[in-house]
Amino acid sequence: MTTAAARRYLMCRPTHFAVTYRINPWMDPTAPYDNALAVSQWETLRQTFLDLGHTVELIEPLPGLPDMVFAANGATVVDGKVLAVQFRDAERANEAPAYKAWFENAGFEVFDAKHTNEGEGDILLAGDVLLAGTGFRTAHAAHAQTQEVFGRPVITLQLVDPAYYHLDTALCVLDERNIAYLPSAFSPGSQAVLRRLFPDAIIATAADAEVLGLNAVSDGRTVVLPVQATELTAALQAAGYRTAGVDVSELRKAGGGPKCCTLEVRS
Ligand code: ARG
Repeated sequence: MTTAAARRYLMCRPTHFAVTYRINPWMDPTAPYDNALAVSQWETLRQTFLDLGHTVELIEPLPGLPDMVFAANGATVVDGKVLAVQFRDAERANEAPAYKAWFENAGFEVFDAKHTNEGEGDILLAGDVLLAGTGFRTAHAAHAQTQEVFGRPVITLQLVDPAYYHLDTALCVLDERNIAYLPSAFSPGSQAVLRRLFPDAIIATAADAEVLGLNAVSDGRTVVLPVQATELTAALQAAGYRTAGVDVSELRKAGGGPKCCTLEVRS
């Protein structure tokens, strides 16, 4: 385990959160949702990060973009460089320029995405390397661009379960050396890659994954994860991590958890 450092996160208040279309199996536009509850759950998540000593910056939520709360999909930011995104679905397309503008205004060097690329939803920094998911959203070709932009090795991982459509729904980076993941969300070859790279990984149960337990945010010491992920919480504590359980069940109706709401800004 590494020592926790204060992190800088970008988040977007779910002012316009709704489930009005279906672009992943979690979303049911006919089911009820509670916008006010989503906002209060999100506020608790934000406060949890502040209590841990992290900085949270905010991007203005835009009307007509109900998924904009999922800031992880807004960019990939490593070493002060920003790779902008390109969404697979038209419903989310207009989020990309909004996030790009936020980073430009904040003074970052921004690279345009040349292929479908859903940012930190599919591209996660693990120590020195980037783990990159493909199969549902981010295109395989985007992995090559990611490697080129950041000058870090990119390890392609093939996602195979539609319920775990973004890498960050099936795998959580815990610190510079270890991860937690759901093996069945990956192809056999990608499972072998993960076993080789992370022999001591924490293996999540199906029950943990079903509450989006792996959609967690770790600062290397404390893991902020859905409170419903009880087995994963116990496994993390047994491995020496601290845990902070949060309830973002209203946002799960759109297929998102704590990590989806959180984009790490690494300078
Ligand atoms: N409804 C959103 C979508 O399907 C959820 C995005 C969740 N974000 C994430 N990083 N996994 O695109």
